[in-house]
This record gives sequence, C-alpha cells and structure tokens, in this order.
Amino acid sequence: MSRKITVKASKSYDVLIDGGCLAKCGEKLLEYFRPCSVCIVSDTNVAPIYMNTVKSSLETSGFAVNEFVFPAGEESKGPATLLELWRHLASVPMTRSDMLIALGGGVTGDLTGFAAATYQRGVKYVQIPTSLLAMVDSSVGGKTAIDLPEGKNLCGAFCQPSLVICDTECLDTLPKKEYSCGMAEVIKYAMIDRPIIFDLIEKNDIEALIYECIDDKREKVEADECDNGVRQLLNLGHTLGHAIEKLEGFKTSHGEAVAIGMTLITRYAVTQNMCSESDLVQLISALKKYDLPTETQLSASEIAGAAMGDKKRKGNTVTLVIPRGKLGSVLVPTSTSDVEGIVEAALRKDTK
Ligand code: NAD
Ligand code: GLY
Repeated sequence: MSRKITVKASKSYDVLIDGGCLAKCGEKLLEYFRPCSVCIVSDTNVAPIYMNTVKSSLETSGFAVNEFVFPAGEESKGPATLLELWRHLASVPMTRSDMLIALGGGVTGDLTGFAAATYQRGVKYVQIPTSLLAMVDSSVGGKTAIDLPEGKNLCGAFCQPSLVICDTECLDTLPKKEYSCGMAEVIKYAMIDRPIIFDLIEKNDIEALIYECIDDKREKVEADECDNGVRQLLNLGHTLGHAIEKLEGFKTSHGEAVAIGMTLITRYAVTQNMCSESDLVQLISALKKYDLPTETQLSASEIAGAAMGDKKRKGNTVTLVIPRGKLGSVLVPTSTSDVEGIVEAALRKDTK
C-alpha cells in the first residue's frame, strides 16, 4: 500500500512510502521535477545492490545520471569525502538547476544533504533512504552534516530535501544488526508520544511503523524546524546514550546505546512517578524483541561525566527528555550537577 506524508517546513515536500517503488523512481521524480542532470551519491555497500535499478529508472525518464560512490561507514562522513564530492560535482559539471540524490543510509543522506546545501550555494536534493534508521529519522527534517575529528556532526546546515522516496523492500538486504539499530529509533517514537507504535511492533507491520515514525517527526519538524524546542523530544535516550557510546569507544553501536539510554531515563522516570512500571516493562520487552541491550556495566559517575561533553549542553544545563507514558514525553532542563544522581537512581535495580 502506498502512503504519502507532506512535510510543511520552511519548504514543503512529500515523503513517499511504498514497497518496490525504487524501480519507478524516475517516473516519481518526473511528477515533481523537469528532467535534469542528477548525481546519485551512494556507498560501496548500497551501490552494488541498488545503483543500477535507480540509474536505469531515471535514465528511462529522461534524466542524465552521474554517480559518486564512497567507502561505506561513518569514517567517510567527513571533510575529505565532502571535498571529493564537491570536486566531482564541479567536474561533471553540475549546475544550480541540477539535483543530487542520496541513495543509502544516514551517512549518505547527511553527506549528500550538506553537499547540496553548500555546492553553488545550494542545489536541490532527494533522499532515497535504504536503512531503517534513514527511513524513520535522518532522511526527513533537513539536518545535514559531516563529522570532524573533534566530534560527530560538528559542521552542517538545515537544508530540507525536495522529495523523499522510501522503498521498504530495501530493508530486505539490510544487515540484521543495522535493522535492530533502526528499531531502537522506532521504539523511541513510541516512547515519545506514539504508543500505537508498540501495537504495530506486535503486528510486525513495517510500512505502518515507518509511516507513524515519519509522521511523528513531521509534527516536530513543522513546529520547530531549527531544533530550539519540541524537536528536541526526538533526543529521548540520546543524552545518556551518546555518553555510553563515547565511553565504550563505539564498541556499543548508536542504536544499542540509545536503547540503554532510553531504559535508564525511563527507569529514572519510574522513580519519580512520572511513568509507570508497566511503561518500563513494555519498553524493555520491545527492545529485547530486537536483541537490543537494556543494561550497562558503566557507573553513574562515568556516564554523568561523559554526558557533560554533550554537544547540546548549554552552560551548566542539559535538557533531558523524560517519558511520562500516556501523557507523552517532556523536556526537562537539568543542572549538570544533578545528572549523576539521576543516573544513580536509574541504575538502582530495585526500581525494576
Ligand atoms: P549508514 O548510512 O552507515 O548505514 C548503515 C550500514 O548499512 C552501512 O554499512 C550501509 O552501507 C548499510 N546499508 C544501508 N542500507 C542498506 C541496504 N538496504 N542493504 C544493505 N546495506 C545497507 O548508517 P545509518 O545507521 O543509516 O545512519 C547513521 C548516520 O545517520 C549517522 O551518521 C548519524 O549521525 C546520522 N543521523 C542523522 C540524522 C539526521 O536527522 N540527519 C538522524 C539520525 C542519524
Ligand atoms: N534526529 C533528530 C532530529 O532530526 O532532530
């Protein structure tokens, strides 16, 4: 069943969700744009599987296609690959009326989006997400970025895509571990304020799940595109999760760290009577279904210490997202000196 969500941010654009739509992406693009030159950006895992399908569909519809393929992995989301991509675009040459297409996961999407925001002071780009994380999160909302050696996502721009085409059949080739990482983000939306997602997880209805997650993100992006308020709810589990990710030297993946971060903050919420024990049990059981971890051996002082380095910290305050079950999550500005006590309460086993 095909579904569509329109995001009305500083720019309006559609997100199309359908199984098998990759082979028709040229026709879809023609409904929105005139034929032009397009550069398909992809990584070395995704390109061998999907590049030909996308390329031949676009060429059949009259687009002139060139490709830029980079080594898969977060290490490629940096200035060196961006420079290569800029130079590739200049050598084609791509003009301001042309378009970039990000075909891949969040790394490809963030890199391509930032190149589109900056090449010739801005060209259009389309997101074709192929990982679950990219489908439910990074392809929508216009956050684009590259990493620096000093930290993740340190240089970027808000730049909304012109269209998002989400072919759920791409998930068939996604490694299981990457699928689980995406599910951590799906479960995050359920905990923020979309409990219906827990029912859809039970039913294993992936298209409906993706729809609900994107719709939840749409709501936050429309209300707060530049991330000064309600959009920060999307960081549920991320403040403690990022701290864990950093401490474990990235041995724990992002999705795993977010799973532990969500469990800790929900357990803390239970100690404060902000949500119920059954909300915590529901969260843990959903995470376990996808083999995601819910515990850590790290201490409260280690986690709190690493959370001080959170790039969203403002002076001595970090904004925590606290789940409240059916009431939806809230943003709670918290003094950095209180974070250790919060993690200590969360780590105490007798609360669960
Ligand atoms: P990724 O792009 O590295 O993809 C994960 C792995 O899966 C890669 O090895 C990739 O090659 C492979 N892959 C992707 N789709 C595949 C498919 N269909 N079949 C086979 N292999 C496939 O990483 P990700 O987890 O998709 O995204 C993480 C990135 O997204 C991080 O850089 C993070 O900072 C960023 N992010 C951005 C936002 C945003 O709002 N812009 C939000 C969340 C995360
Ligand atoms: N991934 C969080 C956001 O887009 O705000």
